[in-house]
Amino acid sequence: MLSDHNTFAFLNDDFLPLEGAFLHVSDLAIQRGYGVFDFFKVQENQPLFLDQYLNRFYGSALLMDLEVPLTEEALKATIERLIQMNGLPESGIKMILTGGYSANGYEPAAPNLIITQQPLTLPSPEQIDAGLRIITHDYVRELPRAKTINYSMGIRLLQQVKAQQADDVLYHRGGVVTEFPRSNFFLVTKDHTVLTPDKDVLLGVTRRNVLELAGRHYQMQEGTVTLEDIGRAREAFMTSTTKRVLPIVQVNGAPVGTGKPGPVTMHLLQELRALEEAQLKAKPD
Ligand SMILES: Cc1ncc(COP(=O)(O)O)c(C=O)c1O
Repeated sequence: MLSDHNTFAFLNDDFLPLEGAFLHVSDLAIQRGYGVFDFFKVQENQPLFLDQYLNRFYGSALLMDLEVPLTEEALKATIERLIQMNGLPESGIKMILTGGYSANGYEPAAPNLIITQQPLTLPSPEQIDAGLRIITHDYVRELPRAKTINYSMGIRLLQQVKAQQADDVLYHRGGVVTEFPRSNFFLVTKDHTVLTPDKDVLLGVTRRNVLELAGRHYQMQEGTVTLEDIGRAREAFMTSTTKRVLPIVQVNGAPVGTGKPGPVTMHLLQELRALEEAQLKAKPD
């Protein structure tokens, strides 16, 4: 919930107090759920891996035939200004690009660009130690390479996740694993290969960074992962901007490996934290 009364948001050309940042009801995001977004972390008032997130944001917009109204340079300057105005050193920034104020409720118009910043909660040490219990569901997003604002399936499945005392739901198509509603999936095979699905997934920024880190220490592969592969795996984990690397200890009631967070998973979490630290240190003051 966005509630901090001193927080500013950016809407098209203006920085506005968050509580005054509105879109008209004719926007295609409201009328038809048409839009894209992206989300990155800010630590010590510095955006982390910003270029990777901006690349994906412009890429998602292109896939949805939406034009970002700012150049990458102007967008970066806007983000920098928002960070200065808000003074939220540990936070998340969301950029949303909508289908615009449609004359007939269907055809796109000039996109609206919204940028918000909010405090961020990262997983606690207890959550990491406990690991996640997950269920599975047969579903593939319509445009898996685009980060669209449509999370209908994930949101509808929340009740089922809760009813089965699980933490999240993993999508697959006919037994071929893809991704979670808001994160990517990895497993560690018996021969210590770090493996992640490559088809029908959002190319997560954390996924890319973890793959690179894994490649320094282990065999690493992007390819087909099946539900049966999980049954044979040593370890499994998810990655995302807010979750970093989170162990998965149970799938559909069956333990993964030993049923406890595994050493490769914990090593990659440590490596990712170190990469974030290194990026912060590399930035000029
Ligand atoms: C569908 C989907 N897959 C994966 C991710 C993880 O991506 P990232 O690591 O860039 O946060 C997200 C992030 O929200 C997502 O929405």
